[in-house]
Amino acid sequence: MKQKGNYLSVKDSRAIIRYNIKQMKHYEAEKRKPRTLAEYTVPMRDNRNLIEIDSLKTCFFTDNGTVMSVNGVSFDIPKCKIVGVVGESGCGKSVTSLSIMQLVQAPQGQVIEGQIRFNAGDLGQTEDGRDIGYDIAKTPTAEMYRIRGKDITMIFQEPMTSLNPVFTIGYQLDEASFIHNPGISAEDAKAHSIEMLKKVGISMPEHTYASYPHELSGGMRQRVMIAMALVGDPKLIIADEPTTALDVTIQAQILELLKDLQKKQGCSIMLITHDLGVIAEMADEVVVMYAGRVIEKGTAHDIFHNPLHPYTIGLQKSKPMINSDVNEPLYSIPGQVPNPINLPNSCYFKSRCSKCVEKCEGEYPRGVQVSDTHWVCCYLYEEKADAK
Ligand SMILES: Nc1ncnc2c1ncn2[C@@H]1O[C@H](COP(=O)(O)OP(=O)(O)OP(=O)(O)O)[C@@H](O)[C@H]1O
Ligand code: SF4
Ligand SMILES: [Mg+2]
Repeated sequence: MKQKGNYLSVKDSRAIIRYNIKQMKHYEAEKRKPRTLAEYTVPMRDNRNLIEIDSLKTCFFTDNGTVMSVNGVSFDIPKCKIVGVVGESGCGKSVTSLSIMQLVQAPQGQVIEGQIRFNAGDLGQTEDGRDIGYDIAKTPTAEMYRIRGKDITMIFQEPMTSLNPVFTIGYQLDEASFIHNPGISAEDAKAHSIEMLKKVGISMPEHTYASYPHELSGGMRQRVMIAMALVGDPKLIIADEPTTALDVTIQAQILELLKDLQKKQGCSIMLITHDLGVIAEMADEVVVMYAGRVIEKGTAHDIFHNPLHPYTIGLQKSKPMINSDVNEPLYSIPGQVPNPINLPNSCYFKSRCSKCVEKCEGEYPRGVQVSDTHWVCCYLYEEKADAK
């Protein structure tokens, strides 16, 4: 949409609103269309993956224009692995996870392109032996109710906003059991809730079961949230900044608990954080996002021992180190992320990059596979990868 300087004219504003209404109606009508199972199920690319996100685009139709929050994101979450998603504020980490849960704030927020394949393990296989999964981007809301909270659960940053202050912890945990297992008796639901509280390391589970959220400490509340996420025996736990609101010692305990539970339950975790230290400690694989795109992905070893993208290198440099000179100011990447409404048709990191070459003036780099596990989206590596 054309803009005069930094301001929108009334005419432009009206045009944006008309465009938004048209788009929102279109995508909402698409969602309401009845779909057959064949229309929202797809073969997985690799049976070892639990989630395959493929060229996902999620945007928000705002009064200032269309915000491309997730702009062609692709990555996999393998079964029984922890995948860390890292990137600075506003790069689209939460919107990616909300797209997986089909919880993007509609009608403004819409998944407009791409697939999110979820290997639930209950749809059989194709003739050539590939698992059939749900394409969450197309799955009807009623079907999604069954998947969400049971197969895929989410732990949010601030447990107080996710727990209802007027109900006891026990009531809220039992409710989750009743939803996922409608035939369950009240006694069995209580026993299951108490077992979950024990599992997350709460020493007096009966007491906590009868408590209200405000009676617990921040760390306890986060443990309760994890217990709630475990009630349905999930295949994927999405943890969006699960420890940012906690102090460092409790943070370490919660991370340890998550890692331990992931191993015991055999589930996968998508761990979203700003904190590279947390990722280094926890993740098997790492996805680095910048301005709505994935700019580098690989194993934790690839990203921490051989970071390639100038942004990932900058992120590593801005991490406080135990042996760094206390008189030296901490490194910060200069400049700002481009406006998500008017993204340039070239590398989004260009205005902040100190390694620019002539080619960087061209269109957005295509992304290259530099090893079996390591992928990067930067002109500096295109030739090397092509030469291989
Ligand atoms: N409801 C919304 N309406 C309009 N824009 C939104 C909405 N939610 C998110 N966005 C925009 O989408 C982009 C990505 O947001 P997102 O919340 O995914 O960032 P993030 O990487 O999770 O950041 P943080 O680390 O601060 O949580 C941002 O530019 C944000 O302003
Ligand atoms: S493509 Fe060019 S501008 Fe972009 S990160 Fe790589 S070197 Fe920097
Ligand atoms: Mg977020």
